[in-house]
Amino acid sequence: MTGAPAPDEVTISTGLPPALRHEAAELFWEAFGAKSERALGPRARGIALIERNLREDRAIVATARGELVGLASFERAGSTFVDLSLRKMVREFGPIRGAWRAALLALLDQSSVPGELLMDGIAVRGDMRSRGIGTRLIHAMFDCARESGLDRVRLEVVDENPRAQDLYEREGFSVVRHEQTPYLRRLIGVGGYSEMVAGVPGR
Ligand SMILES: CC(C)(COP(=O)(O)OP(=O)(O)OC[C@H]1O[C@@H](n2cnc3c(N)ncnc32)[C@H](O)[C@@H]1OP(=O)(O)O)[C@@H](O)C(=O)NCCC(=O)NCCS
Repeated sequence: MTGAPAPDEVTISTGLPPALRHEAAELFWEAFGAKSERALGPRARGIALIERNLREDRAIVATARGELVGLASFERAGSTFVDLSLRKMVREFGPIRGAWRAALLALLDQSSVPGELLMDGIAVRGDMRSRGIGTRLIHAMFDCARESGLDRVRLEVVDENPRAQDLYEREGFSVVRHEQTPYLRRLIGVGGYSEMVAGVPGR
């Protein structure tokens, strides 16, 4: 079989298979864009660091033909898909650079609110976008929230990503807060972000 997989070849499931950790780290790296390089770069080292610090049970994945084509991650009980503490960053990059990079990650950090599932990342492989995979991952996130007895899903989206924001609005999310982040514009090209919340269908 050649070419990109067709939408009906894509399976959505909870939990990242261990064999796909490297692909997941690469996908996450690309989705983070400029933030990745600043906080975790250079690329090969950053991807290896992410790969070592992934929590397989904090992801919903889209796979086709044994490959990872999409991923959505969530926070639960204070732990996230990419689990990078200050201690780990200092061990990796040294006390000064490690602490600075950890501070940058902390600026981007999101924290959960009781009753809500925090979706803290979503990415679909470049050649597989616009085929409904992002939508299916969001639906699976709603299922995951419902099974956990949670009423809402929350996420953050940067102003520079209107296409993702459109997708979230179409899936029932509305903006509950917007913040300007001039201090992040020069660092990582993020001028502001919106916090969005959706009620879980069927709850
Ligand atoms: C945002 C992102 C996850 C969306 O994933 P996606 O799989 O492309 O999303 P969907 O296909 O479900 O929906 C997106 C578009 O496809 C269209 N679409 C949905 N189902 C479709 C189908 N079966 N066939 C063709 N098009 C379809 C939708 O109408 C939508 O239209 P748009 O291109 O005008 O936005 C993806 O673009 C991505 O990985 N971006 C980079 C990382 C990123 O920005 N993450 C978000 C951080 S907040």
